[in-house]
Amino acid sequence: MRTVRIFIASILLLCGSLPAAAWGPNGHRIVGQIAENHLTDAARKGISDLVGRASLAQISTWADEIKSDPAWRHASPWHYVNAPPGQAIEKAHKSPSGDVVEAIQRFERVLRDRGSGRKERVDALRFLVHFVGDIHQPLHAGYASDRGGNDIRVRWFGESTNLHTVWDEHLVEHQRLSFTEWVRFFGHAEPGEIEAWRRSDVLDWARESRSMLPAVYDYGSSRSERTPYLGYAYIFKHADGVRLRLLQAGIRLSGMLNDIFASP
Ligand code: ADE
Ligand code: ZN
Ligand code: ZN
Repeated sequence: MRTVRIFIASILLLCGSLPAAAWGPNGHRIVGQIAENHLTDAARKGISDLVGRASLAQISTWADEIKSDPAWRHASPWHYVNAPPGQAIEKAHKSPSGDVVEAIQRFERVLRDRGSGRKERVDALRFLVHFVGDIHQPLHAGYASDRGGNDIRVRWFGESTNLHTVWDEHLVEHQRLSFTEWVRFFGHAEPGEIEAWRRSDVLDWARESRSMLPAVYDYGSSRSERTPYLGYAYIFKHADGVRLRLLQAGIRLSGMLNDIFASP
């Protein structure tokens, strides 16, 4: 009995220390569903030629699912881009193993190139849907020194977690909405916003994420324990920011796909 308890405790501890991957599944599905709702007919057709009836929400989580496959280990650095505080992201984003800025640009090229193989284009689409979500999560354009907040231990209400997971998951999940409900409630943008948000490039998206970091690391009203306490005050402070980033990610993803699959 004791060994069983120790075994379970070790597993829980191990899980708690694994670095978080990206927006949680629902964050990525939200981005995929918003994009899906803003696709042109030509893009819809181009996408279904590649992934059949699967929706963008469905394929959005594949890039996290393959993380446990050793064959895809080299893809782990593609989910984020780090730079030291004060350093511009474009200086840092030249890591030889790739980063999220480089990966988005690369997979966009693969998808545009009708000469690339079918399997390669299917993977490119699945990666693109995921990474456009990731780059809008502020801590995915973070600091290597704390691995994008994965090393910052915090308490989320009573639960021990880390700052990165608060942003990937807790701030999205605390509303207890399904991804379809979330999109129905918050997944709408004005034509002016759509036009303005799409008029930007991948580096702009990373720069915007970085500009959010001072507020992300400001636990302002937390109590003065050693482990910062994040709860309602932190939710209140960031609710609009989380909504904006998920909405911008979905709108920009649809813009990119509409462009890629526009009829020649
Ligand atoms: N690992 C190292 N840096 C990271 C980041 N910014 N986001 C996610 N995982 C990371
Ligand atoms: Zn990711
Ligand atoms: Zn993450």
